[in-house]
Amino acid sequence: MLFCSVARRENRRITSYVTVFVKLPLLLTPLTYIHVGNAATGQKSAPESRKCGRAKYKFSHLLTRFDMLILTASDIRDMARHVGLEHFIKKATKALKQDFSRWSSFHLSPRHATYYPQGVIELMPCTDNKFYTFKYVNGHPGNIRNGKLSVAAIGQISDAGSGYPLMLCDMTLLTAIRTAATSVLAASYLARSDAKSLAVIGTGAQVEFQTIAFAGHYALETVRYYDIDSLTMSKFARNLVNQPFELKPCGSIAEALHGADVVTTATAAKHRQTLFTIQDISPGTHINAIGGDCPGKTELPAELLRQVKLVVEYTPQSLIEGEIQQGDAGLIHAELAELVCGTKIGRDNDREITLFDSVGFALEDFSILRIAYKLATEFKFGTEIAMLPEADDPKDLFGFLAS
Ligand SMILES: NC(=O)c1ccc[n+]([C@@H]2O[C@H](COP(=O)([O-])OP(=O)(O)OC[C@H]3O[C@@H](n4cnc5c(N)ncnc54)[C@H](O)[C@@H]3O)[C@@H](O)[C@H]2O)c1
Repeated sequence: MLFCSVARRENRRITSYVTVFVKLPLLLTPLTYIHVGNAATGQKSAPESRKCGRAKYKFSHLLTRFDMLILTASDIRDMARHVGLEHFIKKATKALKQDFSRWSSFHLSPRHATYYPQGVIELMPCTDNKFYTFKYVNGHPGNIRNGKLSVAAIGQISDAGSGYPLMLCDMTLLTAIRTAATSVLAASYLARSDAKSLAVIGTGAQVEFQTIAFAGHYALETVRYYDIDSLTMSKFARNLVNQPFELKPCGSIAEALHGADVVTTATAAKHRQTLFTIQDISPGTHINAIGGDCPGKTELPAELLRQVKLVVEYTPQSLIEGEIQQGDAGLIHAELAELVCGTKIGRDNDREITLFDSVGFALEDFSILRIAYKLATEFKFGTEIAMLPEADDPKDLFGFLAS
């Protein structure tokens, strides 16, 4: 260890070789996962009875790092351009499916939310005994008036074995990507596979990502869209020019819903809204509701929840934050993990109306963080920094002051 630290200061490359040598035996250790409950709340993870897989990480060698990787929004933008946004979303969807299929490997808990008159700030931790991740995220609908994002986020992935941080990064873009990927994952169980028409209500920051994700999964012919802000509608059209589907701006929600196979609602308003009722949509529609994600912030009427097949991410959190806050757990058909693990079925006929009541769950951030970390190290994006004190003697932290 002492040799490592000294060499590091003089020559980073030597340190890397020595570190790989010292840690090589760790790489040969088979990965094992244990089921852990929520120590803070006494809450158990999902039932053991669910069919769940195991993680197959292919980049354990990265745990040999001592430095921490910093990935800014610009780095993530460059990385997304490098791999292609659609490909990035597909990778995220695949990672989400892998992680949701091993639901009981994770320590799950509702997020810790602090509410303000203007919005909310949330901490979202998740761990599978190999990696520990968390996201810090806000939701301030009024920010737009001051030229700030409604939703901005920062996240971290750490090596659970040592507790050492591996990467700290912007998660604003990653949140949009993972939310879009989660929407498509849920739709793959809940929407009709021949869906051709998407309606989008609210065309703010999230929605191009949502649209590109759906277009990557379904042969979309038309995207009809509406927002109360006409400038935001123009921005949406500008950003999605040259896509292989037809964009149809609409003058009302009802017009946007006309003939829609899938409806995405992504409005930000800190109150209860009724964007539409069941009478406004056709049999067989799938509703992907992502905008209602806080107590008192909903997009759909309570009676609609009784008329649809309703799926949530994580019941304890959704009951507080989702559309389902207007109802009760008895109205929930399944959690997304149950569809992925095959213990409950999604859509079972072409006429039923399905609803994914999405609020955003920490496991989704876990999945996107591990993908972002893998891509950043593979394609060398970001900056390595020595964030933590590198004391020659780990018991001599005081000595680090003088070094
Ligand atoms: N479920 C999740 O995982 C998840 C993830 C990210 C964001 N969100 C939520 O999704 C929502 C959208 O996020 P964003 O970053 O795009 O916000 P944003 O502020 O950029 O965009 C929201 C848009 O909704 C429009 N709007 C508000 N009320 C409307 C109405 N009645 N009809 C039509 N349009 C209306 C606004 O004009 C605005 O353009 C927010 O509520 C956010 O909290 C959820």
